[in-house]
Amino acid sequence: MLDGRVAIVTGGARGLGEGIARRFAAEGASVVIADRTPAEPLLAQLAPTQIGHLTATVDVRSPREVDDLVADTVARYGRLDVMVNNAGVMDSGAEVADLTDEEYDFVLDVNVRGVFNGCRAAARVFREQDRGRIINVASYIGKKAIGGHALYSASKAAVISLTQALALELGKHGTTVNSICPGTMYTPMWVEKLPTFVGEANPDVEKYRREHAAANIPVGRMGTGQDVGAMAAWLASDDAVFVTGAALNLTGGEAVFF
Ligand SMILES: NC(=O)c1ccc[n+]([C@@H]2O[C@H](COP(=O)([O-])OP(=O)(O)OC[C@H]3O[C@@H](n4cnc5c(N)ncnc54)[C@H](O)[C@@H]3O)[C@@H](O)[C@H]2O)c1
Repeated sequence: MLDGRVAIVTGGARGLGEGIARRFAAEGASVVIADRTPAEPLLAQLAPTQIGHLTATVDVRSPREVDDLVADTVARYGRLDVMVNNAGVMDSGAEVADLTDEEYDFVLDVNVRGVFNGCRAAARVFREQDRGRIINVASYIGKKAIGGHALYSASKAAVISLTQALALELGKHGTTVNSICPGTMYTPMWVEKLPTFVGEANPDVEKYRREHAAANIPVGRMGTGQDVGAMAAWLASDDAVFVTGAALNLTGGEAVFF
């Protein structure tokens, strides 16, 4: 249980971040939902806690906004227990020869600088507190690249590596640092990218959801925010105190490698 813990979830307004925020709140944590889009509708649905939840409109690409997010959270609640760096974006699916500098900057800025900004701001607090948890949402594609997704693959490999290095640095400060590597998850990101993935303007989402699961995922369904919420809650809990520097697959068997 996460009773009384204080957690920040970036990209928490929808998708996997929403699943993490809901699970943390259900376990008694106070959650700060940090997203570039307002998260008030979700805030109203979170299980209530004694000291309440918050939303913050933050672009994780901005070091100042992320520093302020962490500082404001500590000022409001007196501490920070868990930092979840989940906000991320997919690339366009173009091959490397066709990629633009703008897309490189966009994907790497959100997926790598954004996670770095969150890690650095939280690490400064956790070093002082001598206690903390950092959970970074990477992807199994950070371990096994996919053609047409070089920028996304490279960005998630960077998240895994950053996680490992930070785990080595923060172990002596009572802080664990881990990454979650989801497989193909049913979220708004996947739905929005489906036309590009399948080359159809208006694809039948449910049909492709079933077909993808049947063809690629041994457990027979796509993952959800609830699945990620459950793993993140465990990583944030006292039970996971000896787990650090890990990149944990969460794929329903879609990826069976280390
Ligand atoms: N959906 C998948 O199949 C899948 C698989 C593996 C990993 N992931 C990763 O999981 C994370 C969440 O993905 P999702 O599928 O829930 O995506 P999503 O697009 O459904 O939700 C992402 C959230 O992040 C927010 N966000 C994006 N850029 C931001 C920024 N610069 N600053 C602040 N907030 C920002 C968005 O507003 C949105 O609320 C991402 O890091 C993604 O790469 C997703």
